[in-house]
Amino acid sequence: MSPTQRTGLRSAAATGHARALGIGAYRPSRIVPNAEIVDAIDSSDEWIQQRSGIRSRRWAEPHETVQMMSVAAAREAIAHAGIAAGQIDAVVVATVSHMLQTPAVAPAVAHELGLERPVAFDISAACAGFCHGVGIGNDMIRGGSARYVLVVGVERLSDITDPTDRGTAFIFADGAGAMILGPSDEPGIGPVVWGSDGEQFDLIRQREDWRDVLDAADPRMPHLVMQGSAVFRWASFEMAKVAREALDRAGITVDDLDLFVPHQANNRITDAMARAIKLPDRVRIARDIAEQGNTSAASVPLALHRMLADGEARSGDLALLIAFGAGLAYAAQVVRVP
Ligand code: UT7
Repeated sequence: MSPTQRTGLRSAAATGHARALGIGAYRPSRIVPNAEIVDAIDSSDEWIQQRSGIRSRRWAEPHETVQMMSVAAAREAIAHAGIAAGQIDAVVVATVSHMLQTPAVAPAVAHELGLERPVAFDISAACAGFCHGVGIGNDMIRGGSARYVLVVGVERLSDITDPTDRGTAFIFADGAGAMILGPSDEPGIGPVVWGSDGEQFDLIRQREDWRDVLDAADPRMPHLVMQGSAVFRWASFEMAKVAREALDRAGITVDDLDLFVPHQANNRITDAMARAIKLPDRVRIARDIAEQGNTSAASVPLALHRMLADGEARSGDLALLIAFGAGLAYAAQVVRVP
């Protein structure tokens, strides 16, 4: 007698496949060109453009909160998907800049969208968070624990970035991207390839633990700090392997790809990955970093959204998504563009 027969336990019925149905974005209204930040970090527009590809970024105004930006991006994604908001039964928000330790922002986003009792939770996987969310949402739909999943990547990194830190002040930025995932007759999302390297935990981190901050004589915001060149070397070398594995596991090669949408960390990392995986010239590469900076969990959906808006991407295209950051955490998958 099998254990199942003894207990009568049932598992959720697997439901087949999932795909991306819609995408949305929110870009804060305030555009901050390099010229506005260079004096505080003894830098130059030329240096920043050469070393990172960033020309300007957007920083949120006070009313452009993590919740507000998430809801705005989600509304566009819902409209694009052509579903009713009420059909969403799970909300997954990837962020590191929701400033409450608890509760998560996801239930508040779901409530503002008018959803009734959806599962709603945040994930903390830094810049890799959105691709983690797509991996989780895909598995929820395939495993039968949700039918329509809203995945949001959102950040207000300007709140936790030191404007005088040469290593981060010109990089980090704000915004939100959202994607609706739903059931499909055929696979629309390839297997996620994900992992972490906790040995490199300190390479990108909040400077101190909140308790140490509050115990200090002059409490100050524990900003993000980053050992940029070490992260750069790791990402340029290790992420190409992850990208290749995501293609292999999806059963395709670079020749089948239409789009390459990496985390917008640095155009030089993007170029190194593209070279390492021998990306054909005809594959369009996301370069949203130029106008958006590094928006961590929001960067991949924002970049894909811009490609669609600019006509560089079309519905039905095959896109390789890959993201990496603090943890160090990473995730990648192939997605058919909604
Ligand atoms: O999103 C999560 C994942 N994050 C990433 O993937 C970020 C990865 N890292 C990077 O993108 C790059 O490391 C940065 C763009 C952050 C920095 O570029 P880099 O080429 O690695 O610069 P570096 O830190 O090696 O510094 C090179 C030179 C140094 O001068 P010397 O020693 O060569 O004379 C620095 O002092 O550039 C100088 N430098 C600057 N100069 C002007 C460092 N920061 C600045 C600055 N402006 N802001």
